[in-house]
Amino acid sequence: MQDKEPDTVSTDYRESHLSKGKDYDGNLRSAPLDAYIHKWEEKNINHIMARLDRNKISSYIDFACGTGRITSIISKYVDKANGVDISESMLETAREKHPSINFIHADLTQEGTDIGKFDLASSFRFFGNAQPELRDSALTTINRLLKKGGYFITNNHRTPNALVYKIQKARGSDQGLDLTHKLFKELLEKHGFAIESKRAIGFWILRPKWLDNVTEDSRYDAILESIFHHRIFSPFSLDTIIVARKVSDI
Ligand SMILES: C[S@@+](CC[C@H](N)C(=O)[O-])C[C@H]1O[C@@H](n2cnc3c(N)ncnc32)[C@H](O)[C@@H]1O
Repeated sequence: MQDKEPDTVSTDYRESHLSKGKDYDGNLRSAPLDAYIHKWEEKNINHIMARLDRNKISSYIDFACGTGRITSIISKYVDKANGVDISESMLETAREKHPSINFIHADLTQEGTDIGKFDLASSFRFFGNAQPELRDSALTTINRLLKKGGYFITNNHRTPNALVYKIQKARGSDQGLDLTHKLFKELLEKHGFAIESKRAIGFWILRPKWLDNVTEDSRYDAILESIFHHRIFSPFSLDTIIVARKVSDI
């Protein structure tokens, strides 16, 4: 997936998208694999949100919101949606596309700014890319942003155990991934979260080029995703959406 490429040689993921705001959405749309994953992330998020108790969810924040891709999907289910990102260029695009959402320019992992407490937080396409220090500080920040019992919806699109990456590795192409589901679960628990559910995406994609044969209105991808969305497939799937609850302050 394309969002793995930082635009500088820095190893701090904070700097990865500082000037990517203009191209991010276009790149996602033009790469078949990214477009496919986006489509199924949106479908699964709608499925999850429709089943949460909406009386308990009013305020929402999307951490590392980028151009508002996920913020805008979840905003339909809440009273007040907010996004926060370190990249002003990503936020510029987000504000143009979604004027009713409140986008905040900040690095809350380094600034102690108090922006309140929320019922729901999300963070997508972030943890698989971030370095260990940033994963820790982001989860500490998200814990601080959430009320006790609040929901955290996130994803892991960079697990080294996805079948497609295993096959690539066996053929000599190592993606350098490290965020297994076991490690992500340990990190979430260490930061006061308990996983409630998972929905796997793209288990069946053993070669990214298979996607060239899946068209927008294909019935086959719907059948395959409905068979393989169960959480038992998630450790080996290209992407997994994780729903967690904040169970304790840290
Ligand atoms: C791959 S993009 C994902 C954007 C969006 N969540 C999505 O799924 O399309 C990763 C985002 O993380 C942001 N980011 C990195 N470090 C951050 C930090 N410390 N605080 C807020 N945003 C951060 C980057 O600026 C970038 O917009």
